[in-house]
Amino acid sequence: MGASNFTQVISVGVVSFLTGYYVHQWLNSKSSRPRTRSSIRKVTSSSEESTEESFEEDSDDEGIDINSTSLNEIPGEVRMTLVVRQDLKMGKGKAAAQCSHATLALYKKITNPQSDAYNPDMVRRWEYGNGQAKITLQVPNEDEMDTLFAQAISLGVNAYVVHDAGRTQIAAGSATVLGLGPAPKLVLDQITSELKLY
Ligand SMILES: *[C@@H]1O[C@H](CO)[C@@H](O)[C@H](O)[C@H]1NC(C)=O
Repeated sequence: MGASNFTQVISVGVVSFLTGYYVHQWLNSKSSRPRTRSSIRKVTSSSEESTEESFEEDSDDEGIDINSTSLNEIPGEVRMTLVVRQDLKMGKGKAAAQCSHATLALYKKITNPQSDAYNPDMVRRWEYGNGQAKITLQVPNEDEMDTLFAQAISLGVNAYVVHDAGRTQIAAGSATVLGLGPAPKLVLDQITSELKLY
């Protein structure tokens, strides 16, 4: 290695070091701006959370898929029933978010061809025959909600228990709403006839 080669290697090293240094500085200054913005966004969204209700799904789902096709022969109105726990004393917004989640979860189960709960005939009756009828009822506590869930399963009714991630208002993982159906009203009445409207 000659002296000039040596100088070349050193200067390339210095240039690449400086380039690296300035690129690093430049990237830092670029990324520090969005970082500031996102931290502001975070503050805003967490303060929103204290006044508005967001729903966050709990990781462990109530994973029982009920084959409800035995109910397809039962005539009359088809509806969905949402049973809200009263002892949690959820605010209106929270209850609305939990009920929405129950509706969506029931619908996903019963329209999923991979699920044992798949029952497109029942969905068709509910959607086109009954305007996607839904009713909200109240149940006093979790024990009674569990009993209703067990009854629904034994009758072959599509059922889902919503568990809240519990960032606000209530303890994490609390069962909040039991969703039933879509199923014939005649069958749902056997499960929920004692319950008051929410
Ligand atoms: C539900 O049960 C019926 C009758 O046993 C069967 O024909 C049908 O394939 C089942 N549905 C699903 C999605 O497993």
